[in-house]
Amino acid sequence: MPPAPGRDGRGHSGHHPSKSWEPLLFILKALHICFVMSWFAGLFYLPRIFVNLAMAPEQSSAERERLLVMARKLYRFMTPLGILALGFGLWLWVAYGYTGGWLHAKTALAGVLALFHLFCGVLLGRFARGENTRGHVWYRYFNEVPTLVMFVVVYLAVAKPF
Ligand code: HEM
Repeated sequence: MPPAPGRDGRGHSGHHPSKSWEPLLFILKALHICFVMSWFAGLFYLPRIFVNLAMAPEQSSAERERLLVMARKLYRFMTPLGILALGFGLWLWVAYGYTGGWLHAKTALAGVLALFHLFCGVLLGRFARGENTRGHVWYRYFNEVPTLVMFVVVYLAVAKPF
């Protein structure tokens, strides 16, 4: 049985959730991690569709339309996943009294991911209106942003270094 939060003095303000609460803690944490993973599938794949849209020749409207339909469906699917991923994280924080600089840094980086998600919505709108001005190389670098943030956030979540 993993140690309940707080036994190592880090993680929350010292009171321990009573044994009867622990099952809910583990269910919330499992849901948090599952929705984070699902959200990241979209955060990784949507910019990849943008790379293909930026490379699609102007005259191939059928291919562009197919990619746009995929991107719209993915954005609609990944938005509630992001809300649930962050919602369960905040629920854990509030319900179990976690504390520590790691959690503040992690939440700030989660905010960066949420802004990245919303900006993908803006870029999708521009592609749909034929107003995209960026090339596929720019989207390839853009695609790496969630990967870099993921490594830092997961390290903060697991190691709680400060
Ligand atoms: C609003 C943003 C977020 C909040 C408030 C939040 C809060 C939390 C809390 C309180 C825990 C429990 C820590 C523990 O019991 O050790 C946790 C676990 C975790 N979170 Fe988040 N989280 C957020 C976003 C994220 C994001 C964006 C990711 C992934 C990139 C993530 C990945 C994880 C992982 C992997 C764990 C399990 C850590 C472990 O068991 O050692 N979280 N989160």
